[in-house]
Amino acid sequence: NTHCHADHITGTGLLKQLLPGCRSVISRDSGASADVLIGEGHTLRFGAFALEARSTPGHTDGCLTYVLNDQSMAFTGDALLIRGCGRTDFQQ
Ligand SMILES: [Fe+2]
Repeated sequence: NTHCHADHITGTGLLKQLLPGCRSVISRDSGASADVLIGEGHTLRFGAFALEARSTPGHTDGCLTYVLNDQSMAFTGDALLIRGCGRTDFQQ
């Protein structure tokens, strides 16, 4: 997860049902619960890929951006959107 927000519905529960062994991940700064709590610089490895977590607070205190190991992609959640960013006026 990139962050936790009251107006979001997470797919984590469904993914954990469909994919045995799947573990949830979120920033320790989010205040949310997950199987794994991470922070700036943490690397998540899967197959031939890896995602590096970068702390990008603003939308929420716990927002993380995940950067692919070849740096070709970044998964920003609501921290950065096309032509905008996520609201910053509630829940942190
Ligand atoms: Fe959000």
